[in-house]
Amino acid sequence: VCAISRLTHKACEIIKKTHNIKNMTNKKALIIGANGTIAKALEASISGEYGVSKVSRANCDYSELGLSSIAESLKKAEPFQLIINTIGVLHDDVVVPEKRLSQLSADKLAHYFYVNTILPSLCIKYFHGLLDKTHTSVYVNLSAMVGSIEDNRTGGWYGYRSSKAALNMMVKTASVELHRVNPKACLVCMHPGTTKGSLSRPYASNVADDRYYTSAQSAERIMHVVAQLNASQTGQFFNWDGKPIPW
Ligand SMILES: NC(=O)c1ccc[n+]([C@@H]2O[C@H](COP(=O)([O-])OP(=O)(O)OC[C@H]3O[C@@H](n4cnc5c(N)ncnc54)[C@H](OP(=O)(O)O)[C@@H]3O)[C@@H](O)[C@H]2O)c1
Repeated sequence: VCAISRLTHKACEIIKKTHNIKNMTNKKALIIGANGTIAKALEASISGEYGVSKVSRANCDYSELGLSSIAESLKKAEPFQLIINTIGVLHDDVVVPEKRLSQLSADKLAHYFYVNTILPSLCIKYFHGLLDKTHTSVYVNLSAMVGSIEDNRTGGWYGYRSSKAALNMMVKTASVELHRVNPKACLVCMHPGTTKGSLSRPYASNVADDRYYTSAQSAERIMHVVAQLNASQTGQFFNWDGKPIPW
């Protein structure tokens, strides 16, 4: 049944019909920040293989009450083999990436940390309990290469970089605790690659064509890495090609 459950939804349906199997469950995934560019491409890419549940501003205010009631309702069904948090902000009506120290402000830094660090951390708090405990389960947080402290050679983007670096530390720390309560789980950060969409569009002129990927490409690569992850890699920060990124 374990091997069969890795087949696509369609294949499972055929096998179920042929062998008259009624109780075989398919894999389940939760996408957080579900209306974003990469999230939508992920949903399109996995929806044959996984039953997909979604959390977004459309159905959640990200208050502790809102998150806990969604977690409770999702707990009633089968466990999840995959959770992908895509929440993140680089620019919106509150922030634009800072180029100089003189552009820092408490309110804007707080916004970066609220969206890029605090919301994903609260999601881990409320949703880690949904992960499958009997089979390998993977919880991916989309971080960013610019959140690597070691890789920072160009400076700038203070709030975005720092809030993603803080997210990385939250994920690393939570992975240690999660390993104790669910040894089958793998909790990681991943850089999706620079992806065409509203988040990157204002900065597209600085990106070489061959390093600027469609959301479908990024989704496919994220899932390629996910397929190779297991609990032994928990607490790491991966590039879209599966190579580890230095913290
Ligand atoms: N695109 C790139 O080139 C790139 C590169 C490196 C890293 N990343 C990271 O990859 C992730 C996805 O990127 P993307 O291009 O798909 O970005 P996107 O289209 O802007 O999607 C990000 C999602 O984050 C959620 N979000 C944003 N502000 C929020 C707020 N104030 N409160 C709650 N949720 C909020 C929204 O989800 P809902 O609207 O569904 O609520 C939004 O759709 C982000 O974490 C980003 O930092 C992207």
